[in-house]
Amino acid sequence: MLTITQHKHDLLIIGAGLAGLRVAIQLAKDFDVAVITKVHPLRSHSVAAQGGINASLGEGDSWESHAFDTVKGSDYLADQDVTEILAKGAPGAVIENERWGTAFSRTDDGKIAQRPFGGAAFPRTCYAADRTGHNLLHTTFEQALRSGVTFYNEWFVTSLVRDGNSICGLTALDIATGEIHSFVGKSVVIATGGFGRVYSHSTNAIINTGDGCALALRVGAPLKDMEFIQFHPTTLYGSSILMSEGARGEGGYLVNSEGVRFMDKYAPEKMELAPRDIVARAIQTEINEGRGIDDEYVHLDLRHLGREKILERLPGIREISIHFAGVDPIDELVPIKPGQHYSMGGVHCNKDGVTPIAGLFTVGEAACMSVHGANRLGGNSLLETLVFGKIVGNKIGEYLPDAPEPNFECVEDEAFKIREKLQELMLKEDGESPSEIREVMGSTMDSLVGVYRKEEDLKAALSMIRELKEHFKKVFAGHSDKRFNFSLIRILELENMLDLAEVITMGALMRRESRGAHWRLDFPERDDENFLKHSLFTKIDDFVKTELIDVNLGMFEVKERTY
Ligand code: FUM
Repeated sequence: MLTITQHKHDLLIIGAGLAGLRVAIQLAKDFDVAVITKVHPLRSHSVAAQGGINASLGEGDSWESHAFDTVKGSDYLADQDVTEILAKGAPGAVIENERWGTAFSRTDDGKIAQRPFGGAAFPRTCYAADRTGHNLLHTTFEQALRSGVTFYNEWFVTSLVRDGNSICGLTALDIATGEIHSFVGKSVVIATGGFGRVYSHSTNAIINTGDGCALALRVGAPLKDMEFIQFHPTTLYGSSILMSEGARGEGGYLVNSEGVRFMDKYAPEKMELAPRDIVARAIQTEINEGRGIDDEYVHLDLRHLGREKILERLPGIREISIHFAGVDPIDELVPIKPGQHYSMGGVHCNKDGVTPIAGLFTVGEAACMSVHGANRLGGNSLLETLVFGKIVGNKIGEYLPDAPEPNFECVEDEAFKIREKLQELMLKEDGESPSEIREVMGSTMDSLVGVYRKEEDLKAALSMIRELKEHFKKVFAGHSDKRFNFSLIRILELENMLDLAEVITMGALMRRESRGAHWRLDFPERDDENFLKHSLFTKIDDFVKTELIDVNLGMFEVKERTY
């Protein structure tokens, strides 16, 4: 039998977006750090973040106000101790990145420019035109390169390996050669981002298949708050490309088929700048009640902003509108509708990214700390990656010196098993088509587990997902060439997404209340008595156990939300 190539590092980080890179930078000076990523780091989804990153830098603003807005925006499900850390850490994180070289947009007197964003009491969102993630990722990647991190670019992680209650490494496929390798490490960080591609209509890149979350579930680490899926109010009709909240932050309006600016009905004070869950529901309601254009979408109106402002602050939005919808926002309306955007849930961990498995950490969108609760505010996601990337790095720095030596035999045994599984998939001569299963999964999630949910739809979705899992057992790759076998990668991603789709739907069915982004037509009230709780999902053999755990309250009183 061919041997398995083994790699050994102190720390194995899965994912090279902002969160993973920020952890790496924090530790590379003192430890041997490897980053394993299925795409080149600059293609990580952080690059697509448009509107900005929140920090209370402005006159009169404060970390307390930022924390309050975040907790209220979360519909009081955020852990308030974690939110405090986020808000306190924000100015330092932004300034650090600015000093590293991020080219933030500026005010006339040279300060970092800040725009209003949904649910915020102050213009708190620092931005680099409408390409903030792009700027931050390039800068952070440069720092990671400088710090001496080892990169495994275009490697797909196929499993995590634990020895008792400790993580000891992972197995990964070198996409270029098709060989499975074993990676031994004292610690592993899941920083793989979100799982938006479980839905068909998503702003997420096609790489966002939640691989890290699915791997964690399979190795026995619980997932948390998976039912809370964020639907961004403004995604371009037809392609679901993000039309940044920055467009409304700069003064854009939402108008229905009657030409009416409708947000005053839903959020009279904040209007278009209410939190995303409220704006997404408002748009969906307009469409459902017959005031959408062709019953499909409403319009984003930027025309009154004027040419100069659009070219300076929203150049990306303009380009995307021209190329993907054939309209120029300078003088035309932009067709938009809500679409999946962000995963509030993820791998269960504490405020330092510590999971219940020793040595296994998590950070960024893949993690659920929970700083966003039931609904994330725009501009807090880029922030989370940088603030908690550093904190999780520091925690791992404390863990590594006394960590047990990892059991390399466990990892090698697992690598042999995975190699056999992949060979079988590649050698199969016929079977079911993974792309068909993926299509049905996406449309099921869009139509039955979307902005508005109800029991009968959720039950139908769950049985469809389970049926698809049965079909998945018969999938085949279609060709056996080992090099760059993307048919195989798509199958592995689909396996991950089906597991997550099932858990999302189980959570949505279990949560018989409406809170934040989770709206049940059959339970339209928030129910603090029974559901001011996080949901937790743990895989035990073939069964997923669901439980509810407490939210950390404390600083802010739980109240009704009005905007
Ligand atoms: O709308 C946006 O620009 C997205 C920002 C975010 O998700 O934080």
